[in-house]
Amino acid sequence: MEKERKSPVILDFDPGMDDAVCFLMMLGSGKYDILGLCPVSGNKPLDVTEPNALRLVELVGRTDIPVLRGAKKGIFKETRTSGNVHGAGGFGRHVDLPDPVTPVDGRYAWDFMYEQALRYPGELEILAVGPLTNLAIAFLKYPDLHKYLKRIVIMGGAFSEGNWTDTAEFNIWADPDGAKIVFNAGVPMAMMGLEICRQAIITKEDLARLDAGGRISKVAADLMRDRVNRPWRQTDPEDEDPSAPVGGILCDAVSAAYMICPECIETEYVGVDVETRGILTEGKTVAIRPFTETIPYEPNTHAGVSIDREKFVDLMIRTVANLD
Ligand code: BDR
Ligand code: CA
Repeated sequence: MEKERKSPVILDFDPGMDDAVCFLMMLGSGKYDILGLCPVSGNKPLDVTEPNALRLVELVGRTDIPVLRGAKKGIFKETRTSGNVHGAGGFGRHVDLPDPVTPVDGRYAWDFMYEQALRYPGELEILAVGPLTNLAIAFLKYPDLHKYLKRIVIMGGAFSEGNWTDTAEFNIWADPDGAKIVFNAGVPMAMMGLEICRQAIITKEDLARLDAGGRISKVAADLMRDRVNRPWRQTDPEDEDPSAPVGGILCDAVSAAYMICPECIETEYVGVDVETRGILTEGKTVAIRPFTETIPYEPNTHAGVSIDREKFVDLMIRTVANLD
């Protein structure tokens, strides 16, 4: 039987604990040919996310995957990081990977994206789970890039409550102008925002399953240990369902799950744009639905609505275990 060809993908990220798990899932899935990693300033400045990307390829013995040079700051904003949310080094308190010996590739992320898009016209997907600056620069520099990309899948945004401000999710808030350029680039988009990520709870029992695995599973467990041990509930404490799972969330892993198992996630097709100038709402992703009367309804994004939590967790554990 003919072996199924892997689909080409570029991972654009800001590692980051959940970024690291996202990479491990994508690699372990065996479904994708990861052409390159494009670090960007986000959770930490680029001088941390770039070596972290190199640490990850060394961890899994895949230094053949190039790590490109990314953006140090947003399109208009100065560098905005998530401070200490991902610990001092970006991988939390329990993971301390050795300094990389592999050098960064000399090419810039945006040039690499265009080069690969021309190499795989209509096939290349970009999975972007950090601020969208690298991609935005690519669209600004190469006005015909949109014609060659198959799809962009992002972790980012929130239609209701944000996590960095009341209205904005971190990745979009960190570079709202970059995000606006990407949402308006004319490429089919899928967005795994906070609404869906907050459903993908990882419990202590799930963590124990990873802990029982091999070397890479144990690293994955360590990457999410503090998140899982800091309980997150699906409902408001007011109307709490005692049977609801309690644990942590790992946003970027949800977008990997969407790439690997689209049937695990239900989406709605909406128009999405970004508020870049709102005084109170900077970085908010706004959903435009057919009944929105003041703005024309032009759907451009499949936004995650619900996820099968059990399937998500099984998928995460299984794909990571393939690397053990
Ligand atoms: C997003 O922000 C970052 O802290 C995570 O890596 C994720 O991409 C969640 O809002
Ligand atoms: Ca991220």
